[in-house]
Parts: sequence; C-alpha cells; structure tokens
Amino acid sequence: MRWRNGEQGYGIVTKVLHWSTVALLLAQFSVGYLMESDGDVPDVDCDPPGESRSGGDTSDAEEDRLDELEDRCESAQDLTQQDADDAVGSAWSDLWTGDLPAEGLTLPGWHVLLGLAIVAVGVLRVVWRSTTPLPPWDARLTKTDRKVLHWAERILLALLFVVPATGIALVVGSDDLVPLHIAAHLCFYAALAVHVTVVVRRRVVARML
Ligand code: HEM
Ligand code: HEM
Repeated sequence: MRWRNGEQGYGIVTKVLHWSTVALLLAQFSVGYLMESDGDVPDVDCDPPGESRSGGDTSDAEEDRLDELEDRCESAQDLTQQDADDAVGSAWSDLWTGDLPAEGLTLPGWHVLLGLAIVAVGVLRVVWRSTTPLPPWDARLTKTDRKVLHWAERILLALLFVVPATGIALVVGSDDLVPLHIAAHLCFYAALAVHVTVVVRRRVVARML
C-alpha cells in the first residue's frame, strides 16, 4: 500500500482523508437534525379550555384571565423557538472565549466543533490533492462518467467550505440566513447523489477502499 496516489490507484492518505470526511459529515448531519428536533417546540394548543365559551357564559374578568393565559403560553413558545436558534450562536461564542460548559459539549457545541473539523479536513484534502497526482481513471468509467465525477468532486470539495460558511454566517449574522444553510445542504445531497450513483453503478467503489 503506497502513501501517495500513483499508477496503482489512490494512496493511503487520500483514502483516510476521504473516509474521515464521510464519517465527520455523517456525524454532523445527524447532530444537525437531532439538534433541530431537540429545539423543536411541541405544537401546544395555547387556547385555554373554556375560551370557546362566550357571551353570557363567561364574565369579563374570566375572559381577561383566559386571554392572559393564552398570551403567556404564546410568548413562552416564541421564546423557546428563539432559544433553539440561539443555542448554536452561544456555543460558537463560548468556543472563542474558551468558556466550555463543565458538563461537556451540548449538541449545538458538537455542531460547531464538527463544522470546524470538516473545514480543517477540507483544507488538508485540497492541499494534499494539489501535491499528489490523481491516479489514472478506471477503464470502466466512460468519458461522460469522468466528466460528471470530476465536476461532482469539485462541487463536493467546495461545499465542504460553503456549508460551514453559511452556518457561521447565520450565527454571526442573522437568523434570516437559515434557508441559505439549508439550501447549501440540499446542494450537497444533490452532488453526493451524483457522485455515489456513478461510482456504484460503474462498480469502482473498491478504488477508494
Ligand atoms: C459541514 C458542516 C455543516 C453541516 C453538514 C450542517 C448541517 C446542519 C443541519 C442538517 C441542520 C438542521 C437543518 C434543518 O433543520 O433542516 C443544521 C442547523 C444549523 N446549523 Fe449547521 N451544519 C454545518 C455547519 C455549521 C456551522 C459551522 C454552524 C455555525 C457555527 C452551523 C450552524 C447551524 C445553526 C445555527 C443551525 C440551526 C438552524 C435553525 O435554527 O433552524 N452549522 N446544520
Ligand atoms: C460524503 C461525502 C463525500 C465526499 C465529500 C466525497 C468526495 C470525493 C472526492 C473529492 C473524490 C476525489 C478524490 C479525492 O480528491 O480525494 C472522491 C473519490 C471517490 N469517492 Fe467520494 N466523497 C464522498 C462520499 C463517498 C461515498 C459515500 C462513496 C461510496 C459509495 C464514495 C466513493 C468514492 C470513490 C470510489 C472515489 C474514487 C473515484 C475514482 O476516481 O474512481 N465517496 N470522493
């Protein structure tokens, strides 16, 4: 087994970098979705029972009391949703101030740390790729496959930086950028689907093992 890529195929360093990225991304997407469902506020019905009774059934004081209960319930829900959005933001600031929670990292903390690890592995990959030649294409890949794989790989590598960048933009910028972070994931899934379809269909997965 060679360290560098060459006539024999991909070398050990490329393979380790490739599968470490896959493992980190798998963990990161899982944390992302878990974190979201953790922050999800159960859809509680804020209408207190009895509110539907009207007219002579309830006194003005009772109506006011029910309205107040409803307002309090609704603002508590807004606050919890806001807290869920801010959790990654405070994990991000804690990381820079070195103020890590004593009880260990929370899911948002892991999300930030894994995001930064993915950027670090992305940098290593780009540096490694520019210093070692790519191996010759496998004969099973057609001319079109090669073109498609080449572009899917470039897009995947670029997204290793773009996806975390949109995450950072939303925590240091504005919550309005959440759709951009989600759009970046969708582009990632699309490029990954193309990449995996070609390598599986042409049975060249073993080249990376
Ligand atoms: C490759 C790296 C990353 C991946 C794959 C990723 C993935 C995800 C996923 C799957 C979600 C759940 C989205 C949904 O509800 O559908 C999410 C949410 C989120 N991510 Fe990331 N993320 C990455 C990096 C980052 C970084 C570096 C930050 C900030 C430092 C960040 C900040 C956030 C925030 C704030 C949310 C919650 C958005 C909301 O309020 O709905 N992400 N991410
Ligand atoms: C999850 C994210 C993934 C990313 C970011 C990614 C990225 C890449 C990149 C950039 C290359 C070119 C070689 C290099 O520069 O390292 C590559 C090659 C390859 N990848 Fe992936 N990959 C991913 C997932 C997968 C998966 C799940 C499989 C297996 C089903 C796979 C199988 C392969 C194979 C077989 C090659 C060699 C293609 C060839 O030249 O014949 N990749 N990948």
